[in-house]
Amino acid sequence: MITVSKDKTFSLTNRYFSYVFRVSPEGILEHLHYGGVLSDPLNVTAHHLRTQREVSSHFQGSQYFNLSDTPQEFPCFGTSDYRFPALHGRNSDGNTVFTLYYKSHDIVKDKPALKGLPSARGGDSETLIIKLEDPLHKLGVELHYTIYEDYGVLARSAKFQNNGEKNIQLQHAFSSSLDLPQNDYEILHLHGTWSREFNEERIDVPKGRFVIDSSRGTSSAAHNPFIAIMDKGTTEDVGRVYATTLVYSGNFALSVERGEFEDVRLLAGINPFNFHWRLKPGQSFQTPEALHVYAQRGLRSMSHLWHDFIRDRVSPTRFRHVPRSSYLNTWEAAYFDIDEDKVLDLADTAKSIGAQMLVLDDGWFEGRKDDTSSLGDWIADKDRFPSGIPSLASKVKAKGLKFGIWFEPEMVNPKSILYEKHPDWALHVPGRKPSLGRNQLTLDLTRDDVIDYLFEQIDDILSCGDIDYVKWDMNRNMTEVGSAGISNNRQREVSHRYILGLYKLLSRLTQKYPDIVFENCASGGNRFDLGMLSFMPQGWISDMCDPVGRMDIINGASYLYPLDVTAAYIGPSPNHQNGRVSSVQTRFMAGVFCAARGVSLSTADIEAHKDEIRHWVSLANATSADMVGGTFDRLVKNQNEVCWQYTTRDKSTIYVVYFHILSAPNLPFRRAHLVGLDPQSKYILQENGEAYQGDALMGSGMPMPYVATGQVRDDVRYMDKGDFSSHLFVFEKK
Ligand code: DGJ
Repeated sequence: MITVSKDKTFSLTNRYFSYVFRVSPEGILEHLHYGGVLSDPLNVTAHHLRTQREVSSHFQGSQYFNLSDTPQEFPCFGTSDYRFPALHGRNSDGNTVFTLYYKSHDIVKDKPALKGLPSARGGDSETLIIKLEDPLHKLGVELHYTIYEDYGVLARSAKFQNNGEKNIQLQHAFSSSLDLPQNDYEILHLHGTWSREFNEERIDVPKGRFVIDSSRGTSSAAHNPFIAIMDKGTTEDVGRVYATTLVYSGNFALSVERGEFEDVRLLAGINPFNFHWRLKPGQSFQTPEALHVYAQRGLRSMSHLWHDFIRDRVSPTRFRHVPRSSYLNTWEAAYFDIDEDKVLDLADTAKSIGAQMLVLDDGWFEGRKDDTSSLGDWIADKDRFPSGIPSLASKVKAKGLKFGIWFEPEMVNPKSILYEKHPDWALHVPGRKPSLGRNQLTLDLTRDDVIDYLFEQIDDILSCGDIDYVKWDMNRNMTEVGSAGISNNRQREVSHRYILGLYKLLSRLTQKYPDIVFENCASGGNRFDLGMLSFMPQGWISDMCDPVGRMDIINGASYLYPLDVTAAYIGPSPNHQNGRVSSVQTRFMAGVFCAARGVSLSTADIEAHKDEIRHWVSLANATSADMVGGTFDRLVKNQNEVCWQYTTRDKSTIYVVYFHILSAPNLPFRRAHLVGLDPQSKYILQENGEAYQGDALMGSGMPMPYVATGQVRDDVRYMDKGDFSSHLFVFEKK
């Protein structure tokens, strides 16, 4: 997979892509190719005009050669490249000029883990480690490139090492830089806010710089850490796509710059805004990992590459292909009005609809009757949960259910025992009143004493042995990000050190409790990223449970994330987030392909639709093994329709869900073109036994049911009348 020529051209080639660069005659790393597989990658040449620019500065004595027109692997600033650099920092002379020259390289089998940070697992992989150094200030940079035999993903990271004798201040410490050749590219990215996460936006790559980033302390719902740069007009099936994400949960940046000469640079890593890292002599700094995918045939092939990789190499191995339990969650059933008796009642209700787990959400700990108090005090409320959580868990389990519980460990309310004792344990800056978010402050996870406290509190509950699931919530963005435990000249390290602390806590807990399903939540999708999903097999993607809202969110998230890592439930109608009224069926269908499916309804709401809810929960149970490890495809997405296909891992069952949003008379008769079937096989539609040929379902498509507005006929397949209808087709391969 990794080959090197005598004159130091490096190729990383597998059956998905070739990635080629060389040590240029000037000694820097010059990028040559990223894209389709090359049969002779070591003979790729640099552009024959590379030395002909006459309008720019010339790089350190190399006449005509300038870096602002040279595709590079890890660009710096101040030596003839004027684009945003991967490395920027202040050296002991007080200036910001660095030049990174090639020093040596090494190829190692497999993939070294990153210290203190989650990263994709190795296996059937090779890693190329290139050492670069600035000869003047002795700043070393180690670039890691991992290629896998069976995945179309390239993993990159960088490690900075101060080999000199004086301090260096890092300001840009990107994980990866990719210089793509001139082309008419478009960007696809996913933006949003609370309850409207993962909105898709496509824009032309502008001249200048376009950045998605976060400075909120979490990767955030405003921009998921994902970007695709693709041929203009790329569709699900056509177009070359370069897509990137980060295995990181904090302040990130994905910066796309179309430079003076039209080449496009993508930088991926920690957001340089408000970031500084002091490297003393001998110290090193490890960046998070960036993952890159090159897909030759449109967004569908891109998503397939991501999904396979995330499932197999990022998500915790323990839960790979493990069916998830259906559940009843207490949140939208009772909110804070919860006590032991109600939980036991809801457990009976859960049983009666066939749910397999009861999840006790927010509201169970000391004094927590609303969102104004108690975060930090992780002991059961004495009045409402007098016998404590372990005893409640065992009572729920005695009913034949699993038991799950909610925590929001990273937070503290000023109104709490913890804050009274340790006001310094919250992030804050001296002399300023802290800004509250949902009445709470963020604990300072840069501190080991805070991490130890949280570990002990959570461990105390989990160690009872009856907890099967933990919902790990986090409900505010960070402000006044300062730490009382860190010196003044390191305060701009706090955001990243926080994330390192969080990962430390998560490692300790998930290592001690490998069988507990941890679910990542941050007011829904405010920290839905591969950093968190390295520790947790699934995430609560959004608080939006209205089906129309949620189908957009799932559609957007599916560009990157396999639905194996998502959870969904049937929430109340009218919906509590947007007031929309919808059927139980469509509420279930919006999450039908998520691995974890449940219900969050009061006993009264459940009683009102009991048979229907029981029916859908039983379908969730019957299909739970199918909804892990299969293939998800977006077939149709327009303003009024969404259609998805899900093919089981063994390819024997094909599920197609079709949503029709607003009803109107005389709408077109629609077909959905299925994908990935065996053209020669027959597929039997379960609802009526009709047989369809694979090539016909793909080539001429499956007629979608019609939303009737007038008279109905017996020989036509209809959806429910009115708005927000849905239909699930199930085909079995013959
Ligand atoms: C925000 C989460 O997204 C909800 O599902 C719920 O757990 C609440 N927090 C509880 O406070």
